[in-house]
Amino acid sequence: PGLATYDPGFVNTASCRSAVTYIDGDAGILEYRGYPIEQLAEHSTFLEVAYLLLNGELPTAAELEQWTHDITYHTFLHENVKQLIEGFRYDAHPMGMLMASVSALSTFYPDAREIHDADNRKLQIARLIAKMPTLGAFAYRHQLGKPYVYPDNRLSYTENFLAMLFKMSEPSYQADPRLVKALDILLILHADHEQNCSTNAVRSVGSSEVDPYSAVGAGIGALFGPLHGGANEAVLAMLRRIGTTDNIPGFIEGVKAGKEKLMGFGHRVYKNYDPRAKIIKKAADDVFAVTGVNPLLEIALELEKIALEDEYFVKRKLYPNVDFYSGLIYEALQFPPEMFTVLFAIGRTPGWLAQWSELVQDKEQKIARPKQIYTGHRTREFTPISER
Ligand code: CMC
Repeated sequence: PGLATYDPGFVNTASCRSAVTYIDGDAGILEYRGYPIEQLAEHSTFLEVAYLLLNGELPTAAELEQWTHDITYHTFLHENVKQLIEGFRYDAHPMGMLMASVSALSTFYPDAREIHDADNRKLQIARLIAKMPTLGAFAYRHQLGKPYVYPDNRLSYTENFLAMLFKMSEPSYQADPRLVKALDILLILHADHEQNCSTNAVRSVGSSEVDPYSAVGAGIGALFGPLHGGANEAVLAMLRRIGTTDNIPGFIEGVKAGKEKLMGFGHRVYKNYDPRAKIIKKAADDVFAVTGVNPLLEIALELEKIALEDEYFVKRKLYPNVDFYSGLIYEALQFPPEMFTVLFAIGRTPGWLAQWSELVQDKEQKIARPKQIYTGHRTREFTPISER
């Protein structure tokens, strides 16, 4: 009963009003709070961008100092969270561990349920942004069976993350500032992307007025999938499978025949080159200048060239997206493939929280509850089991 518009995947349905991120997919434009992504990637830092997304304006020097202090203050985890991570099998996927441990934070901070208190929201937001790298790094070290490295709050956000991941495996480890900068840019590029699958999950779950850890836990689950954040991991597996440039034409034929997708290509919104992919290509050059070129780069470049000239991809407006080159950089930075999506999650956390915060304060927002087009049986008589 009642009329409903059938729109699977919300291709044409706006689920909210938002002032956080603007995208023009045909023109390849991405702006956070009105600032072009290119300018933010060049001039800003991840924490500054996080502040911008959450507060609507770039911080003054004093505000940035306070914000950096607030984040730094919350980087440590309760020791029981460490035990939670230790309970996972040695081969647990870090995204599974991240999803579970972020959700578990809701039990450590029951005060987070006071979502209509602005100061409390601010506290929980700082907590979660601060703890994400620690959780990601602990999940990584757990997989390796290595001792955890606690946060060093003298370091910057991104440097601290790298140190927690890699420090004790190489005692002299000190992150190269060029690599820290490249990783910081990658986090900026991932920081928000309006109503993507995981943000929609955060908003949808958040609309029940649950605490932000539970809502973001749901977002991490959505991001895990190969059509969303998991694509960066899938791209590397694909490039490795292709193996040499000679195999590309055969691979492309398989894609066109519908056997598989060209991972890292295509986007619901961008029908033009993803502006983030352009910036990543440049960051890749900076990283490879330090680490040496990733041998899979040659295959990626050739694959992109062939696809961009092929009618199948041209007709469907399929271009490289953010995930096509990001995995190559992550690999050069020594991240194993299963950590790639964790990096995406750390980057996306300010965006999820900015959107959650906007949702909570939006008086017009209602609990997410889409309609359906019912295709099943109508009323039937119950049949006793002996008669079925
Ligand atoms: N390889 C081959 N064909 C493709 C691809 C691809 N990567 N992407 C879309 N198509 C085809 C699709 O088969 C369809 O063809 P047809 O019209 O003949 O049926 C047409 O292009 C339109 O695709 P769609 O599935 O309707 O597009 P969508 O907006 O529902 O899906 C997408 C968008 C990103 C899920 C999809 O392009 C895809 O699966 N890409 C590969 C996975 C990927 O790289 N994901 C990362 C997305 S960007 C970062 C993020 O959001 O996490």
